[in-house]
Parts: sequence; structure tokens; C-alpha cells
Amino acid sequence: MTAYRTTRDRRDASGRRLAGGAIALAAMCLLGVGFVAIDEVTAQAPVQPMAEEVYLDVQVLKGIPVDTFNDTMGMFASALLLDCVGCHVQEINFDTAAFATPTPRIQRARQMVIMMNAMNQTYFGGEQRITCFTCHNGDYQPAAAPSLRVQYADLVDDPSPLRFFFAIGAPPAEEIFARYIEAIGGAEAVGRITSVVATGTYAGFDTLDREVPLEIYAQSPNRRTLVAHWGGDDDLIWAFDGTNGWRVQPTAPAPLIELTGGNLVGASIDAMVSFPAQLSQAFDEFQVGYSEVDGQEVEVVRGIKAGQRPVNLYFDESGTLIRLVRWTETGAGPVPVQTDYSDYRDVEGVQMPFHQVITWTNGRSVIDLTEMRANVAIDDASFGRPELPAAP
Ligand code: HEC
Ligand code: HEC
Repeated sequence: MTAYRTTRDRRDASGRRLAGGAIALAAMCLLGVGFVAIDEVTAQAPVQPMAEEVYLDVQVLKGIPVDTFNDTMGMFASALLLDCVGCHVQEINFDTAAFATPTPRIQRARQMVIMMNAMNQTYFGGEQRITCFTCHNGDYQPAAAPSLRVQYADLVDDPSPLRFFFAIGAPPAEEIFARYIEAIGGAEAVGRITSVVATGTYAGFDTLDREVPLEIYAQSPNRRTLVAHWGGDDDLIWAFDGTNGWRVQPTAPAPLIELTGGNLVGASIDAMVSFPAQLSQAFDEFQVGYSEVDGQEVEVVRGIKAGQRPVNLYFDESGTLIRLVRWTETGAGPVPVQTDYSDYRDVEGVQMPFHQVITWTNGRSVIDLTEMRANVAIDDASFGRPELPAAP
């Protein structure tokens, strides 16, 4: 096992886990960068391929769409607190076909998928109740004995729990939404904004953390497209037309994929943040609780809709939305996606967030906007299925 321990493996020599979080994961997610194996994928190909149709040696995680498979790898990395090279060979850094190279940890993880599925099938009626995280909890060797340190430590409140958490006596969600709208400019000003065009920069694992020019187009109630100019024709695109969503990453094995499940719902929710009056309409019911973000108390509104994972919205003292956490289903349990909003500035009488940090199990992206214009006409085609650049 030591052979697969890497410098990014956050343990000391005795195998104890080191503090410091999973931030280093971000830099490691080279998924897609420079992958050349699948050049027969064209713009005409089905855009919702299954993982086994795109990757070289998928044995147990079959029948899940590519976007979900990528999230599953995020679950693996997060649950075991390993980077991609914690299981995969180092060669993935320059040759993404090397993701298919087997290692003892990959073989072990395959067994774990089978074990996990069997447990859920046998003891939880097929519900995905046991996940990698249930046992591993951020450790590649799950603890067998209880920890006195954990038992006697101060309680630490995780502000993004998926489990039920509402507080008795908290204000109703309607009141918190009303305060939010008031805090950012009032219902009239917010209602006047029906489209937004923004420019700025994007940096993420898919740009090797380099800042590249970004454009955002958003149309009320929930359409939004982001285009990051990575160089040449290689634009990175995230598009959502109100119903369907796509992701373009030209160098990935599947350069154009259609979003599914929680990624699709998430695209709609993310778009609504530009048109905040819509947010309160997006759910069937709410729970309200309290938590802390960066040491300040926040009100948390959890939006619930049948058939979907909940969405947590965090409002600071001034009533402004500072964080959104949602969950996406994978082949091995739900994984969180967190967006932090800050640097609110005036756009035609409405305060809009110019700085956004998106953190999920495979990485972290930073959006910094320099200009935002409201109520500009946007071509409908901007939100539709993106065209891939012609093959060279
Ligand atoms: C806990 C171990 C583990 C970690 C950590 C991990 N993977 Fe994997 N990965 C696997 C296993 C197991 C498979 C094979 C799945 C199967 O056979 O169904 C796999 C397969 C893949 C494949 C498909 C390779 C092919 O062509 O067949 C890709 C791509 C991939 N992983 C990317 C990643 C990325 C990116 C990360 C980091 C975010 C990552 N993995 C982290 C265990 C891991
Ligand atoms: C029911 C509990 C349980 C679940 C669920 C579980 N594991 Fe494990 N896993 C273990 C135990 C126990 C070990 C052995 C740890 C040791 O050797 O001390 C282990 C070991 C591993 C190892 C070998 C780590 C090493 O020491 O190098 C990998 C890789 C792994 N698990 C991946 C996964 C993945 C991926 C999932 C989700 C698909 C998963 N596990 C789900 C309990 C679990």
C-alpha cells in the first residue's frame, strides 16, 4: 500500500491523517485534459454516453452517464481523502489513458463497489444508504475502534449537512427570502432584471488553475450559459436552456456531454441566483435552521422538492445569500457542490455577486467578474446545445 502513497496523501509517516483539508485535490483533477483516446466522438454522437462507452476499462461502475461517473471519482477521492493519484498511476498527469491502468487500490475499490452495492441491496432495500463515505469518512483505512478524541472534543457544526437539521423557532423561509430581496435592492428592482451579461475571468482544474476570460449569459427565469476561453477553439462551455444542460470540454474523452440528474437540477438552481425572486419558487417546501460560515452565524434555508436532493441556502446577518450547497447523485452516494458568493456590487439597483467560488469533490473553480450588464437582449441560441468545434 505504501507504494501508492503520494506526496499529496495527507498522512504523516505513522499513517495518521494530517489536518488541512482536501484543497489540494483541486489541482489534481486532470480528468479530460489532453485525453486523445476517443477521436471518433463527433458532434453527431449521442451526447449522454455511459461511462463504459467513453472510458477504456470500466468494470463495475457501468450504466452511469459520464457526468455522474466523474462525480463518482470525486466521491472516491473525497471519501478516502486521496487525490486521483492516490489510486491511479502518476502517468495520468500527462496521459489520461493511464486512468485505465490497474493498481492494487483500484482493484480494491472495485471490490468495495460490489460490497457496497450488495449491502444496500441486502439490508437497505436497494436504497443507497451505505456509501464509501459511510465507512471511510475521509480515511483510506476506516477506523475500527472509537476515538476518544472525537467523543470528548467540542462539537463542531458542519454547515453543509445533508441530514435533517431544522431549528424550532427559526423564522419562516418566506421571511428570510423577503429580507434577502430587500437586502439586495428590493422586489421592484429585482423584478426589473430579466437578463444579465457578465464578463470576467474563470480559473479551475480544467484551465490548470490559469485565469482565462469568461462570459456569462443569463436569462430569467433560469437559463444560463458560461463560456471560458481556454485558447484557440477550445472554449469550455456550460449551457442550460431551462430544461436541458450541456458541458463542453474539448479535450475530454467525451467533449460534449448532456447533464443528467443532480447536475441538471443544479444548473437550473445556479442560474436562478441571477434572478433571486425565482429561487423561493423552486421548491415545494422549506426547513430553516442555523449554522456558521467562517465564524459568522448564518440562517440556512433548505429547499425541498420531491424526487430531488435538498438545496441549502445560507444567508448572512445582512440577509444576503452567501452560500449554496446542493448534492449530486453518483454511483456511490451523494456528493456536495458548494458555491460561495461574495463581492456584491450594484447592477441597476440590484446587488449582484461578482466573486464566486465553486467547490466540489473534484476541484474548485473561481469566477471573478469585472462587468455585469442587465437587460441586454441575448440570442436564444446562446442557451441551446453547444456546437463542437470541427475536428482538426
Ligand atoms: C479510491 C480509488 C480511486 C480514486 C481516489 C480515484 N479513482 Fe478513478 N477509478 C477508480 C476505479 C476503481 C476505477 C474503475 C471503475 C470500474 O472499473 O468500474 C476508476 C476509473 C477511472 C477512470 C476511467 C478510466 C478508464 O479509461 O477506464 C477515470 C477517467 C478516472 N477513474 C478518473 C479519476 C479522477 C479524475 C480521479 C480524481 C478526482 C479519480 N479517478 C480518483 C478508483 C479511484
Ligand atoms: C462497510 C464499510 C466500507 C465501505 C462501505 C467501503 N469501504 Fe473501503 N474499506 C473498508 C475497510 C474496513 C477497509 C480496510 C482498511 C484497512 O486495511 O485497514 C477498506 C479499504 C479500502 C481500500 C484500500 C485502502 C488502502 O489501505 O490502500 C480502498 C481503495 C477502498 N476501501 C475504497 C472504497 C471505495 C471506493 C468505497 C465506495 C465504493 C468503499 N471503499 C466503501 C470499509 C469500507
